[in-house]
Formats: sequence, C-alpha cells, structure tokens
Amino acid sequence: MAEEKTARLHLAGKDYDLAVLSPTAGPDVVDIRKLYSEADVFTYDPGFTSTASCDSTITYIDGDKGELWYRGYPIEQLASESHYLEVCYLLLYGELPNKDQLVDFETRITRHTMVHEQMHYFFRGFRRDSHPMATMVGVVGAMSAFYHDSIDINDPVQREIASIRLIAKVPTIAAMAYKYSLGQPFVYPRNELDYASNFLHMCFSVPAEPYHVDPALSRAMDRIFTLHADHEQNASTSTVRLAGSSGANPFACIAAGIACLWGPAHGGANQACLEMLREIGSVERIPEFLARAKDKNDPFRLMGFGHRVYKNFDPRAKVMKESADEVLDLLGVHNNPTLQVAKELERIALEDEYFVSKKLYPNVDFYSGIILEAMGFPTSMFTPIFALSRTVGWISQWKEMIADPQNKIGRPRQLYVGSPRRDYKPLDAR
Ligand code: SDX
Repeated sequence: MAEEKTARLHLAGKDYDLAVLSPTAGPDVVDIRKLYSEADVFTYDPGFTSTASCDSTITYIDGDKGELWYRGYPIEQLASESHYLEVCYLLLYGELPNKDQLVDFETRITRHTMVHEQMHYFFRGFRRDSHPMATMVGVVGAMSAFYHDSIDINDPVQREIASIRLIAKVPTIAAMAYKYSLGQPFVYPRNELDYASNFLHMCFSVPAEPYHVDPALSRAMDRIFTLHADHEQNASTSTVRLAGSSGANPFACIAAGIACLWGPAHGGANQACLEMLREIGSVERIPEFLARAKDKNDPFRLMGFGHRVYKNFDPRAKVMKESADEVLDLLGVHNNPTLQVAKELERIALEDEYFVSKKLYPNVDFYSGIILEAMGFPTSMFTPIFALSRTVGWISQWKEMIADPQNKIGRPRQLYVGSPRRDYKPLDAR
C-alpha cells in the first residue's frame, strides 16, 4: 500500500492536513476540496495556472519535456502511424479500435455528415463577409434546435449519438460557412470519400467541374486534424466542461467551446500568426517585431509563440514544421516568403535572451497557417479548421465529465476587493 501523502497548512494558529493525490504521470495535486468548509479560506489562482480542475484519462501534456499523449500514445506516433478517425475513436472510447470497430465507427461517422436541409437557411441570415467562426458558433449551437433526439444528457445512448453527429457534421458546417463567404453553392458530403478528403471536397469543389482530391494533401489535412484533436484542460475545453456542468445540451456546449477558441490568445492565433508573418514580410524586418514583442509597453506579442504549459518545443509544432516543408514541396511552392520569415523568426527568437529566459517556443499555431494557406484556405478558415479538429476532444472531455460521479456544477469563488457595505444615497444627497 503506497504511503499516503499529505500537505500541512498552518493557518491562524491551526494545522490542516490536506491529502496529496498522485497521478499516472505529471505533478502531484493537493486536494483542497474541504479547505473552505474546514478553514473558511479560498485558494487564489487567476488563470488557473496552478489548478487541476478535474481528473482525466484522456490527454497528458508534459510542458517541460514537450510531450503530448492521447490516451497514453505519443502524438508523434499517432501523427505518423494513425489517422484522424482512428484517433477520434481512441479519444472517445479510450483504446485503439480493431479492424471491425474501426470500420463500424467510420461508417457511423460517414452516415451522419449531412446536416438537416433546413439548416441551410441559417446561413442566409449572415452577411457574406461574416467571419466563419461567427457562423459556426451560431449554426453549431442551432443543432440543438434540430436534433432533439440527442440532447438528453442523462441518456448515454443520446450522448453517443450527439458525439457522432458533432464529429460528423462540424466539418460540413465549416465548409458551408466557407462556401457561403465565397457566394458559391454548398457542396454535399460524399460517402465514398474519407474524412479529410470529404472536407477538402466540400471546400474546394464546384458543381461546374469534377474535383480530384490529391491524396497527399488529404493526408496532410488529416494530420493537421490529428495534431489539433485534444489538448488537456485548455481554455476552450474548460469552457465546454463548465457549460456542460450546468446540464446544457452538448451542441450548446460545443458552440461555447468554438466561441472561446476564437480568441487570438487561443485558437485564433493561427490566423493572427499568419497575418503577423505577412506583416513582417521580409527577414530584414524581424528585429523590429522582436523588439516590439519584448517591449512591455507594446501589447504586440509574437503570435504562434509561447504557451501556458509548454516551456519547451510544442511537439505538434515540430510535426507541423516537417509537414510544412512536405506540403509546400508537393504544391511546388518553393521559397515561400512567409515560410522563410517563419523559419528565420524561429531561429532568431530561439537564440534571443528574452525568449530563452521566458521559455517561449513555437506552438501548434506557428506553422499550421503556412500549410493551410498553401492548401488554398483563406486565413479566416484557419480557426474553423482548428475548431472542427478539436470537436472530438471537446466532446470526449464532455462525455468524461458527464459520466463522472463527482460531476457537479462548476462555480469558482473570488477575492472580493470592491467597496465595503454602504447605504444608498438619495439623488439630492450625492
Ligand atoms: C493554443 O492551452 C492550450 O493547450 C492551448 C492550445 C490548445 O491546443 O488548446 O495549445 C492552443 O492556444 C496555443 C497558444 C496560441 N496563442 C498564441 O500563439 C498567442 C501568443 N502567445 C501568447 O499570447 C502566450 O504565450 C499565451 C497566451 C499562449 C500564454 O500566455 P501566458 O500563460 O501569459 O504565458 P506565460 O505566462 O508563459 O508568459 C511568460 C512571459 C510573460 O511575460 P512576463 O509577465 O513574465 O514579463 O512571457 C511573455 C508574457 O508576457 N510572453 C510573450 C509571449 N508569450 C508570453 N511575449 C511575447 N510574445 C509572446 N508570444
């Protein structure tokens, strides 16, 4: 029997013994669940830098070693050996599927890729120049207005159907948002295509001519989906969990996750990073932007750099960087100025004292935009692609939370620093 570990808090002349819980991997946690009721104090951790909000079996990150595992499997192996729908199965159910399980799962996803025909009308309400993320938040949330047979969160069968529908339909909705912004007709999914090929087909084909999906591009697209599939308790996943803790239906929870992901500090960084690289424009201007990134009085940050958890290379950025070279070569895009600026910016930053001392490395968003741009996507589609990739992570974490017997509504407290109690003053006395 392992020795039980405790932490002792000495407060106002009293000692409180707090249990220390040990993980499979990563840091121990101090269990403070009874702290308020026993010691009448809160802990204080804005941004939750030192807080474990739950226990989970899905994804593990080691920020110092630059490691990322989905259900224990390193991301590098999954990115090179597996494919996205197999990774979806792994994240959802905890184990790699056998052949029959994989075929059944892929068939179930394929058969749910179409959306209710009336959902097409939602798009008509948006301006053509709406950001696709605005459309996705609205239309994914509106799925709860259609799929009433999969919103009872207490029914595991309905939870399963909702999960399949979201993984299957969010790419269709993302592609529809893109087509709507172009003024082109929506393209229906094709059941004979694999998941990534289907998405490329729905985005880039037009009724006027046949469209051939390049298998190498489809493979690169599939790898990008895998690299973005889940990432522990990041801001958007925590948003999905918090929304789910109130009993909100899964479509509303995923819409909340999409809204949170949109921010430039989170999933919106891939768009912001490419726009930054374009603004830098040439290797000669890199020092000017590095100086701005280091200037405390300048809100400018190096987009695609830094991470709350990774204080080493983001393992996804490494895979993405290799993929960028492959995809650009495949597309015959040599000497891409944006890629040259990105590589030189990375080289200089990683030698710069400011970035070295603050352990700032390229993250998943630093190279992804270069690949997506080369594939033909506008920057406005970068975060929608991140959102559709992360839907499986969000819904896997949501399912884990709903099934957790400890699950209760999330309700953080605060350190109140406002006015002491005071009495109302009539208008003529002010
Ligand atoms: C994602 O959490 C996840 O897992 C997210 C994600 C996922 O898969 O879900 O990985 C996806 O969101 C990746 C991150 C994408 N965001 C960006 O690339 C935007 C640029 N990066 C920064 O905004 C920033 O690095 C954050 C938001 C990502 C992290 O912010 P933190 O937690 O405040 O970073 P930190 O505490 O490590 O910062 C330490 C110092 C600070 O300076 P001091 O207060 O110590 O003086 O480094 C500075 C920061 O100001 N800093 C940067 C910087 N990032 C941090 N300075 C310049 N440029 C940057 N990019």
